[in-house]
Amino acid sequence: MNKIRPPRVTFHQLRTLEAVVRLGSITRAAGELHLTQPTVSAQIHELQSALDTALVEPAGRGIRPTEAARLLQETALDMFARWQRFEEDLQALHGLERGLLRIAGVTTTEYFIARWLRRYTDSHPGIEIELAVDNRDAVVRRLRQDETELAVMMMPPDNLPLQRVPLMRNPLVLIGPAGHPWAGARRVPRKSLDGQPMLMREAGSGTRLATEAYLRTHGLTPALRATLGSNEAIKHAVAAGLGLAVLSRHALAEDPAQDGVAVLPVAGFPIERRWLLVWRSDRRLSLAARRFVEHVQDHPPDADAASAGKGRAGDDRAG
Ligand code: PGA
Repeated sequence: MNKIRPPRVTFHQLRTLEAVVRLGSITRAAGELHLTQPTVSAQIHELQSALDTALVEPAGRGIRPTEAARLLQETALDMFARWQRFEEDLQALHGLERGLLRIAGVTTTEYFIARWLRRYTDSHPGIEIELAVDNRDAVVRRLRQDETELAVMMMPPDNLPLQRVPLMRNPLVLIGPAGHPWAGARRVPRKSLDGQPMLMREAGSGTRLATEAYLRTHGLTPALRATLGSNEAIKHAVAAGLGLAVLSRHALAEDPAQDGVAVLPVAGFPIERRWLLVWRSDRRLSLAARRFVEHVQDHPPDADAASAGKGRAGDDRAG
């Protein structure tokens, strides 16, 4: 590549020349730029001698820009536009150094989301993170009310325009207390669930929505014994023998016995769902959020998301 020679002219001179060519007059250019006429004339002369080229020629009582001046004006406009892009990029860069990332996740995401955020903050140490953890309906409300830019959930609403990136699988398992008689069986028929005491998450929970859809589809009628407001409360209540429940596998320890529960091999379980990273397609994402999306795409949350996740956007809709 040729070595670049720094230009022998200044931005001030170019700005003046641009106005002179556009307005076809030293007087009008001086008026627009709030300069005196002699200053404008002097700058044009400096440019002419720096470039060794005539830029204006006399015409009647005024002047006329030469062909060289028009060429220079075009070049100057390109340079100004390029400079403006640079200033915008610079601002964005500062935004990225000190930005805010607002993200909301459904309750089960609290078991893994911190790990992703950790990796993101490693490469973007200046970004402050505002993470809201709530049930599905509350997360949807945050998206609708612009209280969050990004959201992680398994059942995005159909009535909001959303972009979706598929993430990892979210198998919903049926659990009972450790030592439950079904735990040792190879397979328990679905119908065995009829009349069983069942614990449910609160209304507005995506886990509950998926469970109800599943029960409805298969015509199953367990006996609702209690509604509890969190995954942890559900786990403790199941461990205490209050009933059976459906819960994300991610909410359980690797060995569920550590939580005092057992995964029950009832036919049709786990209910296969998937988490999605979503954001409103009718909103412009902040640079911090865009970088987070890129980060998640470059570093899929687990190997499974890398192989099974691609191209499945929109698979997991409500009921
Ligand atoms: P939730 O989460 O039950 O806490 O609403 C479920 C989901 O992944 O949407």
